[in-house]
Amino acid sequence: MTTTAASPTPDPTTAPATPPRVALATCSVLPRLDPDDAPLVPALEELGVEAVPAVWDDPDVDWSSFDAVVVRSTYDYSARRDEFVSWAASVPRILNPESVLRWNTHKFYLKDLEAAGVPVIPTLWLDPERNFSSRAIHTRMPAHGNFVIKPVVSAGAKDTGRYQSVDAASRGLAITHVKELLAQGRHVMVQPYMTSVDTAGEARLVFVDGELAYGVTTSTRLTGPHRPTQGLYRKESTRTFEPDAAQEDVARRALDVVGSAVPDAGTLLYARVDLVLGEDGEPTVIELELTEPSLFMASVPGAVERFAAAIAARVLPGA
Ligand SMILES: Nc1ncnc2c1ncn2[C@@H]1O[C@H](COP(=O)(O)OP(=O)(O)O)[C@@H](O)[C@H]1O
Ligand SMILES: [Mg+2]
Repeated sequence: MTTTAASPTPDPTTAPATPPRVALATCSVLPRLDPDDAPLVPALEELGVEAVPAVWDDPDVDWSSFDAVVVRSTYDYSARRDEFVSWAASVPRILNPESVLRWNTHKFYLKDLEAAGVPVIPTLWLDPERNFSSRAIHTRMPAHGNFVIKPVVSAGAKDTGRYQSVDAASRGLAITHVKELLAQGRHVMVQPYMTSVDTAGEARLVFVDGELAYGVTTSTRLTGPHRPTQGLYRKESTRTFEPDAAQEDVARRALDVVGSAVPDAGTLLYARVDLVLGEDGEPTVIELELTEPSLFMASVPGAVERFAAAIAARVLPGA
């Protein structure tokens, strides 16, 4: 006996007359998106969603015309964080929500993680209001090993440098770097250099809709003092890996903090938790990326389709 499959009839109560429209927010140097995000456009189209790359600071874009705006390759926001956050506040239905973007684009969020008992890299914070002398900066830098100077608002290692504590010339460059950042009114972070970045690389755990989707290890490292000519972002070699229970636990605890620090965060469409090995050899958060994380989808079979489905679920009727 054979059965005949009924031909699918579009349900007029659910089939939209025009497909939902989603903007994928990018920056002006990548108007067609980061190549890693570009496949989202056809993947969303496949699901009945029209996806349009749009430059976040283009005044001609009507953000209210979209059913959702997904922040993707807005890599140039860090020099204009206030403008970026105001833009996010002005956009209806932005993902992740503006409150999350505001919290996450300033690395003081690491203090919330630390207060909640999540392992983070030990950090000394320098306030530009304090008028630190060179001597005072010198005494606040580590006595042993390499260390890192970075601003609290940054992306893609911009304005970040690596120094050697026992090398007088390197210490001098670090002091100059700190003073430059403070003179720009920026809070500065001083951290020990985590040597596992050189050996194991950084473990990046990608979550989609609150679920651990995959892990990617990247091998980029800081090579020396800050150079102002550093580009927008750097090429990284990547490989996928299966996060272990300890890594997943730290990542989940870090994401739990978002829920308490940002009450209206909801379930995040996307999140990336970057882990290194701390001085005790345990997984330690270096960064929580809830704003414009590279998701390394090209390295992971099915990643584009999964992320596209999560976006589509937010805008298709009945979602
Ligand atoms: N304490 C640290 N130890 C080792 N490497 C670091 C440290 N801090 C930063 N880095 C390096 O600099 C890069 C950028 O720093 P990160 O904290 O991720 O800020 P962002 O990505 O926002 O610029 C990291 O990916 C890592 O390679
Ligand atoms: Mg980073």
